[in-house]
Amino acid sequence: MTTHEGAGSGGHDPVMLREVVAALEPIPPGILLDATVGAGGHTAALLERRPDLTFVGLDRDPVALAIAAQRLPGEVRLRQRRFDRLSEALVEWDIDCLAGVLFDLGVSSMQLDDPDRGFSYRQAGPIDMRMDPGAALCAAQIVNEWSTGRLARLLRRYGDEPHAQRIATAVVASRPLRDTGELAETVRSAVPARSRRRGGHPAKRTFQALRIAVNDELEQIGPALTEAIGHLVPRGRGVVLSYHSGEDRIVKDTLRDAVAGGCTCPPRLPCVCGAVGCIRLLARRAQRPGAAEVQGNPRSRSARMRSFEKLPVAPS
Ligand SMILES: C[S@@+](CC[C@H](N)C(=O)[O-])C[C@H]1O[C@@H](n2cnc3c(N)ncnc32)[C@H](O)[C@@H]1O
Repeated sequence: MTTHEGAGSGGHDPVMLREVVAALEPIPPGILLDATVGAGGHTAALLERRPDLTFVGLDRDPVALAIAAQRLPGEVRLRQRRFDRLSEALVEWDIDCLAGVLFDLGVSSMQLDDPDRGFSYRQAGPIDMRMDPGAALCAAQIVNEWSTGRLARLLRRYGDEPHAQRIATAVVASRPLRDTGELAETVRSAVPARSRRRGGHPAKRTFQALRIAVNDELEQIGPALTEAIGHLVPRGRGVVLSYHSGEDRIVKDTLRDAVAGGCTCPPRLPCVCGAVGCIRLLARRAQRPGAAEVQGNPRSRSARMRSFEKLPVAPS
C-alpha cells in the first residue's frame, strides 16, 4: 500500500494507514465519517478500497479542509466543525447512521510545519496554536496573561512537565513574549542544564500543553466518541488514533464503558446487573506502528490505535 503522500497531501503522511484500512475495510455498506479529515490521506485510501461507501468529513481547521477538498472527489462532503458537534453535522447532512467512523486525533504536519500557525518550537512565528483560526483563545493570551500558578498547573496537567513551576516563573518574568522563538528560548533557559540534554527539545512539553489547552483537545474526545458509537449501525466499526497518554486514556475509558454497557457489578465477577454492552473491541490492547513506519515517519512514533465494532442489538 502506498503512503498517499506527495502531491495533494499537504506533506502529511497518514499514520498506521495499513492498520486503519484493515480495520475499516470490512464495514457494511453505508456512510463513513472521517471526524478529523486533515489532508484526507486516510479517507483517500479507504475510498480506493471501498468506492461503494459514501464519505463525509469534518475538521475544525479550514486550511485542512481546503487541502482535503482539492484532493478528494467532489462527492465527499466536508464541513468545518469540531467533532464533539458531529451529530449536528449529521443532521445537516440528513444522515441518521454510520457504517464507520475514524478519529485521527491531534495536529497534522501541515499545522506543525507552518510557522505562521505557531505550533512549532523550531521556527519563530506568532504564539497562536489555534486549529480553528476563528476560535477565541490563542496561546499568546495564556502565555502573556495567565498567573504563574495557573500556567504551572497547565504545564503539569497537559504536558507532564517536571519543571512546570520554573518554566511558568520564567515565562511570567519574560513578558511580553512576542513569538514562538522567544517562548521556546525562555523555556530552554528555565530548564536545568542536565534536563536539556534528555528527551528531545526542552520546549516540546510546554508547546504540547499550550496546544491542548488552546484547542480544548481532551474534553471533546469522550463525548464525541460516545456520540459516534451511538450512530453506528450493527457491525459498523470505529478507529481512534491517539498520540499521547492523556488522549489514549480517555479513548480507552470511553470504549471500556461502551463494552461494559454501564455494568455496576464488582470487577472480575460475572455480571448479574443486566447491563448490555454495545461494542466489542477488535484488539484488547492498543496497536502501535511498526518499526519501518516509525523510521520513515518519526511523527508516528507515539501513535496508538484502538478499534471496535458495534454489536447487533439483542432481541428483547
Ligand atoms: C492528525 S490530523 C488528521 C490527518 C488525516 N487523517 C490525514 O490522513 O490527512 C488531525 C486533524 O484533526 C483536526 N482536529 C483535531 N481536533 C479536532 C476536533 N476536536 N474537531 C475537529 N477536527 C479536529 C486537526 O485540525 C487536524 O487537521
